[in-house]
Amino acid sequence: MATTEEILHHVKGLAKILFFFLIFLPYTYIESIVNLFLKKEPKSVKGEIVLITGTGHGIGKLLALKYSAEGAIVVGWDINEELNNKTIQELKRSGKQAYGYKVDVANREEVLATAKKVQEMVGEVTILINNAGIMPHHPFLDHTEKEIRKIMDINVMAHFWILEAFLPAMKRNNHGHVVALSSMAGILGLVNLVPYCASKFAVRGLMEGLHEEFRLDNPCNKVRFTTVYPFMVDTGLCKFVDVTYPVVTPMLKPEFVADKIFESQTLEKRNVALPGYINLAVMLKTSFSPEKAANFLSDKFKCNLASDLDRHTKNGHSKNN
Ligand SMILES: NC(=O)c1ccc[n+]([C@@H]2O[C@H](COP(=O)([O-])OP(=O)(O)OC[C@H]3O[C@@H](n4cnc5c(N)ncnc54)[C@H](O)[C@@H]3O)[C@@H](O)[C@H]2O)c1
Repeated sequence: MATTEEILHHVKGLAKILFFFLIFLPYTYIESIVNLFLKKEPKSVKGEIVLITGTGHGIGKLLALKYSAEGAIVVGWDINEELNNKTIQELKRSGKQAYGYKVDVANREEVLATAKKVQEMVGEVTILINNAGIMPHHPFLDHTEKEIRKIMDINVMAHFWILEAFLPAMKRNNHGHVVALSSMAGILGLVNLVPYCASKFAVRGLMEGLHEEFRLDNPCNKVRFTTVYPFMVDTGLCKFVDVTYPVVTPMLKPEFVADKIFESQTLEKRNVALPGYINLAVMLKTSFSPEKAANFLSDKFKCNLASDLDRHTKNGHSKNN
């Protein structure tokens, strides 16, 4: 027999559920729709110290140019010293304040030691963009142990080490913004990309968990988290593309992606799919469709990468690397 107290507890729970579905949820939908038409003022990045990983090439390089043009002090990290120096020199030549460091983001000791140098020479990082990543693509059983570990080390573990270095100051100062590059492969399982998908799903979990922890820890929390889920971007990372309707799922221009990341960070958006409308397809495939319908969508609207392995072996790269 339930006690009066227990019955009251359950009635309260039921009332909360009814309140949520009948009042709160419709209210938040209406508020979100209204917000779509209201112009929110973006935050300025002038004088902020932004650390971007992977500034030697692709999206990272373009982010460095964008943030610098908007008045931020740029700290660029990349394992490729030559390309990274080019980016930093380009910024310095146009009179901007920029600092480049050769870092393997997968190496925790290197990350922590270089972070210390940055803190001493430049100052506290206030915007962190975890962008560096790699994407070998071939069937799961053809991935070697070394390769799987490398994907996880660069695409996921690096985020932990870089956050370990810079998040404490952001928390202490209650000021900062962390941006992470996930991918559509962090929302959908994709053929030839099993370890990459696992790494990008992990980034999503890491960022969602951090957001929730900071939100609950401090009701006045001002440290923000933005996760970006781009579809294919034309940087050279996505090779051997196999897409049925490129009009629907085009290869995105890296300049467009960098601009959208900047816009999303300065507008404090939390989750950003690029292009935005791809969200609808993802919802259809992952949440609202029975499996048969989801498979139909995958089969008829193919958005895959073919294996890079034959090409690699032809070019002299061993399968065992
Ligand atoms: N290009 C795409 O289609 C696409 C789509 C979705 C998500 N993304 C993600 O966006 C991010 C950037 O992708 P991109 O297309 O600009 O890649 P890119 O290959 O053009 O550039 C990546 C940069 O990261 C650097 N890097 C690689 N390993 C590193 C390491 N261990 N330490 C430090 N630097 C390292 C490289 O030297 C390079 O300069 C990645 O995380 C990627 O997974 C890319």
